[in-house]
Amino acid sequence: METTLIILKPDAVQRGLMGAIVGRFEAKGLQIVGAKLMKISPDMAATHYAAHKERPFYTGLVNFMTSAPVLVLALRGIGAIDISRKMIGATFGSKAEPGTIRGDYGVSNAFNLIHGSDSPEAAAKELDLFFNDGEILDDKRAIEPWIYDYSSGDPE
Ligand code: RTP
Ligand code: MG
Repeated sequence: METTLIILKPDAVQRGLMGAIVGRFEAKGLQIVGAKLMKISPDMAATHYAAHKERPFYTGLVNFMTSAPVLVLALRGIGAIDISRKMIGATFGSKAEPGTIRGDYGVSNAFNLIHGSDSPEAAAKELDLFFNDGEILDDKRAIEPWIYDYSSGDPE
């Protein structure tokens, strides 16, 4: 099982899209193992987007991400990182395919609703940045045997 870090960005929260977006991940079968409504500090945003520090959009991105509350999620499943990135869609709302979260809910390139970790290394770092010890839960869902086939012992 893999765990990924998702952020519903300030535009998603302000537009009342939290339920719709979280519902897509739940319906897919990914398990929510952490959830937190919070405001991202400038320091946290700088750490999270350090790779983009030299890019022209960096200051606007940090201002946007710190402007209003976000919903941070830890999502778990086999291949959770790739599955969520596919569900999220291309970076720009104007380019994202219909059927993806960005493609269905937004038209803006800057206000693109959602972040998802792009690799196992990024997920580990980002989960550590946004969640404290004990905030990601290991409880198994009662419905787990209907989400995956456990007949061989391991989830398929
Ligand atoms: P994210 O990290 O937020 O999940 O998005 P991403 O992987 O699809 O895109 P990434 O290249 O990592 O860019 C991070 C965020 O920076 C903003 N951005 N603006 N104006 C631009 O050219 C531009 N490029 C990127 C977006 O908010 C993007 O989500
Ligand atoms: Mg990215």
